[in-house]
Amino acid sequence: MNLDTKIGLVGAGTMGAAIAQGAATSGFQVILNDRDAAVLDRAMGQIKGSLGRAVEKGRLTEAEAEATLGRLTPSVDIAGLAPCGLVIEAIVENAEAKAGLFRTLSALLTSDALIATNTSSLKVDDLAAAVSHSERFLGLHYFFPAAVNPLLEIVRGAATSDAAMNAAAIFAKATGKQAIRCRDAFGFAVNRFFVPYLNEAVRLVDEGMNPGEIDLAITTGFGTAIGPFKLMDISKPVIALHACRTLAQMGQFYQPATSLVSIGESGALWNAALPASVDPVTAKTIVERLQGAVLTAVLEALDEDVATPEDFDLGARIGLQWNWQPCGGARALGRVGTERLVARHFQDRPLPGSLDTLFG
Ligand SMILES: NC(=O)c1ccc[n+]([C@@H]2O[C@H](COP(=O)([O-])OP(=O)(O)OC[C@H]3O[C@@H](n4cnc5c(N)ncnc54)[C@H](O)[C@@H]3O)[C@@H](O)[C@H]2O)c1
Repeated sequence: MNLDTKIGLVGAGTMGAAIAQGAATSGFQVILNDRDAAVLDRAMGQIKGSLGRAVEKGRLTEAEAEATLGRLTPSVDIAGLAPCGLVIEAIVENAEAKAGLFRTLSALLTSDALIATNTSSLKVDDLAAAVSHSERFLGLHYFFPAAVNPLLEIVRGAATSDAAMNAAAIFAKATGKQAIRCRDAFGFAVNRFFVPYLNEAVRLVDEGMNPGEIDLAITTGFGTAIGPFKLMDISKPVIALHACRTLAQMGQFYQPATSLVSIGESGALWNAALPASVDPVTAKTIVERLQGAVLTAVLEALDEDVATPEDFDLGARIGLQWNWQPCGGARALGRVGTERLVARHFQDRPLPGSLDTLFG
C-alpha cells in the first residue's frame, strides 16, 4: 500500500466524508461514493468548509487545501470504484445493506483489493460471508470526528490475512492514525469498556445519585473535558443505549441501566446541571465505580485476547483522552486494589485470569 493506491469510500455521511477527507489530506486519491447525489454535494461542501478552517488556523496552506480537494472525486457510480486498492464501507448500520454492497464490490474489485467495514456494532465475521476472497476483508473502525481523531481500530476477522492486517496498518500510519489491532468481539477494544463506563454512570443515577455531580467528579477523576452525561447528550442517549444493547449479548454486566432505557427510548436528554463542587467522599465513590466497570470489561476482554493491555491504554489515552488508563491504572493500584474495584461484578463468578497476566 502506497500513495498510488486508490482509496474508495462508500457512504458520504458523517463518517465516510470525514474518512475521505483525512485520506485525501494525507495524499491519497479518493473516490467518495454515495447513492444519493445530494448527500455527496453536502459532504463536499462540508469538506471544503473544514479545509478552509484548517487554512485559517494555519494547519494547512491554501495550496495544500486545493490539492486535497483535487484528490477527492465524488461519485454516485459504484462501478467507478473498480481501480481502488482499498474500499472502506461507511453506509448505514444495517447488515443486509452492507452485505449487498460487499457482493457488488466483490464482483467489481480485483481479488487482492482490500475491503474494510467501519461498522460499530456488527461482527466482521458475519459480514465476511458476503465478500469473495474474505482474507482481504477486515474492520477499520474510526472514531468521531474521524478526520481528526487519531485512533483507528484494525479489526481482524477469522479469515483476515496477515498481509491485509499489515497493509491496513501501513494505511493507518500513512493517514496519521495510531492503530490498535483487535479481535472481532462486540465493541472491539474501546467501546468494550467505554460503553460500560457510560452505563455505570447511569446505574449510579438509578441508585439516586445526581448526574451533574457524576459529571463533575469524572472530569476530575478521568481528566476529561466533559462528563459521561454531557457526552451522551451530544451524541444522543439513544446511541449509548443502542451500543449498550449490542454489548448486552455478552451477559448480565453489560445490560443497559434502567434509566438509560427510559431516557434513550423517550428521546430525552440528561441536561445535567454541574454543581459548584462535589463532596470528596462522594467523588471518590463515583470515580471508583466507573473505574471498576471499565476494569471489569477490560479484564474480560483481555481473557478473550481482544487486544493487548498497551492497546487498551492507548485507546483510552488517545481515543477518549482520559488521563486514567485501565491497565496502567490497575497496575498502579495493585492487585488487591484492583480486585476491590471489580468485586461487585464478580460476586457469582470467578475473577478473570487476566489478573495474573497484569500482575505477573
Ligand atoms: N457516527 C459515528 O460516530 C460512527 C462512529 C464509528 C462508526 N460508525 C459507523 O459508520 C457507518 C456510517 O455511519 P454514519 O454515522 O456516517 O452514517 P450516516 O447515516 O451519516 O451516513 C450513511 C450514508 O450511507 C449512504 N448509503 C446508504 N446505503 C448506501 C449504499 N448502498 N451505497 C452508497 N451509499 C449508501 C447514505 O446515503 C448516507 O449518506 C455505520 O456503520 C456506523 O455504525 C459511526
